[in-house]
Order: sequence, then structure tokens, then C-alpha cells
Amino acid sequence: LQFPESLDRDELKASPSNLTIAGEYSLDAFLFNGSLPGPTIRKRRGERFQIQFQNDIGQESIIHWHGMIVPPEMDGHPKDVISEGNYSYDFKINQRAGTYWYHPHPHQITGPQVYRGLAGFFIVTDEEEEALNLPSGEFEIPLIIQDRKIDDSGNLYYNPSMPERMMTGYLGEHIFINGVPNPHHEVQARPYRLRLLNGSNARIYNIAFRNGHSFTVIGSDGGLLPQPVETSELLIAPGERADLLVDFSEGFSGNSTELISKEFSVPSNGGMMGNMPQMMGQGGPEQGIEFPLMKFRINNDVDSSPSINLPQQLSEINFPSRNDVVREREIELNMEMMTGHTINGRLFEMLRVDEQISQGDTEIWEFINNSAVPHPMHIHAVQFKVLNRSGYRDLIPTESGWKDTVLVMPGERVRVIMTFNAQSGLYVFHCHNLEHEDAGMMANLEIT
Ligand code: C2O
Ligand code: CU
Ligand code: CU
Repeated sequence: LQFPESLDRDELKASPSNLTIAGEYSLDAFLFNGSLPGPTIRKRRGERFQIQFQNDIGQESIIHWHGMIVPPEMDGHPKDVISEGNYSYDFKINQRAGTYWYHPHPHQITGPQVYRGLAGFFIVTDEEEEALNLPSGEFEIPLIIQDRKIDDSGNLYYNPSMPERMMTGYLGEHIFINGVPNPHHEVQARPYRLRLLNGSNARIYNIAFRNGHSFTVIGSDGGLLPQPVETSELLIAPGERADLLVDFSEGFSGNSTELISKEFSVPSNGGMMGNMPQMMGQGGPEQGIEFPLMKFRINNDVDSSPSINLPQQLSEINFPSRNDVVREREIELNMEMMTGHTINGRLFEMLRVDEQISQGDTEIWEFINNSAVPHPMHIHAVQFKVLNRSGYRDLIPTESGWKDTVLVMPGERVRVIMTFNAQSGLYVFHCHNLEHEDAGMMANLEIT
């Protein structure tokens, strides 16, 4: 395993590169500053962030800071793409500590650009979090999980078939973490902080240890949870983050353990469409099957093994109150034979305003998944709280905190509450299955 490099200059230069991975695989890559994944950005709350995006990839692109609340012209709206040259970003970081990330956002080609390597961590710190003395330095491990397809000559290729574009998204059969296949990492028998990011185009993981060992969820998309939550499995959909505390000194018998994606079921919602590409022999392994993710070798020879005293209360959060809700919206996710996945019956149009919101308003949005495949729905310019979910499953541990992306399984209705305090202007919301997004499962929201 490699840790992503840290950003060492005030430029993110995206350029093409032919990359050999682990001496065995090749990727016709696009890289930020030559590194896979992109360099990790670390900033403190309150700091100003200035960077030049230099686009040398020969196609339109623009960077979006996923989870960060920034002015509209800094948000990487697809209308702001540049096909060459620079785009200057300059904004103040005014939000909670958390695991955010950045990736391109051009309309119709986000999927291939992310797949080819354009994605990195954006980690924000603040005082509240520092007071907890969580594991840091080598004991804090950012992990971006991505699945890939590999052809006979070892190329990680991107070539979704029509049914993959329209139905499942691009599902690979090989897992790469921080750009490395079959990763393993040596850890000491002590607590670690694992910052997980599902940077896959379409695949959902059910994070677990092979032996069923439990772990502690301490944070979600928008930073620390109010309270730590102990669990032995955790779903993480494309775009989502999960901040975990894992104590390798306890309960792992022997000196190694394996992180896996445990089998889970996707409701069929009365249709077979969800597995259509697989049925046609054109898709990767379907959603929900088990995958090995990575191995940890536990070094028990280190004598001082600091334990961690997590307080009952990790952070103080005031979620918006239902009493303040001025509007409820239904956001229907449908599948139509000819068009593919739509939001409220429509495909994305660059400048059409789909939802208009008054700045400062608190709203409830209900995502209704009438289709046969899962949709991780992501809203820009806001962090929300998941209120409830109808269907067969309940809220999951990460949903006790702030979220910017929420998984809506087939047949589910999921309600989220949020206050729109971002600067007025145009932002998007969309499915974070990148093939769905590219096929038009995206809409504009305007804050006025
Ligand atoms: Cu992570 Cu609009 O995207
Ligand atoms: Cu985003
Ligand atoms: Cu979708």
C-alpha cells in the first residue's frame, strides 16, 4: 500500500501518462501532478485555499471539491469546464474537519476521467477534532477504494457497454486501493484511523473484517459523528466517506487480518433490469458479491501500544430542525427505456434550473427510487442529515452524522433535511454512479 503524496505546490496539473502499476498492469492514465491517486490536500478550517488547475489532458474538465461548501464559480459546475489552460480556485475553508475529496466534473466524461486517475483526498482539520487526539501521522490511513476491469494484456480499461451506461454503471472485478492492486499494509497492534473513500464509478462496498471483528465508525462525509458507533459491517457507496477507528491490538487472533467487502443484497424492485448487463454477459461482477479489499499484517512486537479513550460525545452537532422546514420536495429517480435514468423525468441540461431554493431555507428532500438499481444521490453546496428511509433497511452508522451523498436502494424512499447557506448561484445534484451521472442523471439547483 502507498499513502497518496501530499500536495506540495499551489497547482494541480492534470496530464496524460502511461502508467505501469505493480509491474504488471498498465493504465492509460490522467494524473494530477503525476500521482495516483492525486496528491492529498490538507487544510485547517478558516484557511484560504488557492490553487491553479492546469488542464493538459486534451479534453474538457473542471475540478469539483466534493463535500466542500464553496462559492458557485469555485464548485466545478460542468458549465465552467476548460479545454486547456488554467482555472484559478480561491476560497476560504469554512466548514468542519472531515474527509472530503476532489475530482473532475465535466458533463458526460466524469466517469472516464475519474477512472483514469483524477481523484484525490481533501482533508480538513479543526480544533474540535484535534482535541480528540485521534491517531495521526502513520497511524492515520486514507484509503481510496476503486474497482477496475483488466484485459488480457493487463490494461485497466474503461469501455462501458450500452447496458452498463444505462443500467448498472461500470463494475470492475479487481480492487485497487490508493492505486495498488491486492494491497497489504503492516500495522502495529494499536488503534488506527482509516479514512475510507469509495472512489469507484459504480460499485458499492460492505466494509467488514474477514473474521467479523467489529470497528468503530467515528465520521462520515461531513466530519465527526455526534457519537462513535460500533459495527461489524458498513455500506459505502460511490462518493461516500467513512472515518473508522480500528484497534489492531484487540481481538485479531494471529498476525494478520483482511478487510473485505461482505456480501449484501440489492432489492430487485420487481425488475430484472438491475442485472441486465450481467445477463447479457456484458457487465462486471454484479453489485453485492464478496470481494477481498486489503490485508493488514499486525506487528505485535511493539511494546508501547497506546489505547484510545474516545469520549461518548465526539462532536457537538446541531442538525436543522423539522420546525424550520419551509419546503418539501420529492425527487423521483426513474428508469425509462429510451432515455435511461432520470431525475423527476428529465435528463441534465446545462443551464436549466430544476430546483430553486431561497438562501437560508431549510428543506426536506425525499429521494424516491423507482428504478431497479441503486443510486447514491449527492447534493452540492450543502451537508444534510438523513431523516429516515422506507423499505427493508434502516439508517446506517455513517448516517448519524452529516452527509453529502446518500445511498438510495431500488424501491427505497429516503428523506434528508438541510439548510442551504451557500452563496447564491447555480450548483448541481446528481447520482454519484458516474455512468448514471454522465448519462444525464443530474440536475441544477439554484440558490437565490
Ligand atoms: Cu463527487 Cu458532483 O460530485
Ligand atoms: Cu460534490
Ligand atoms: Cu444512479
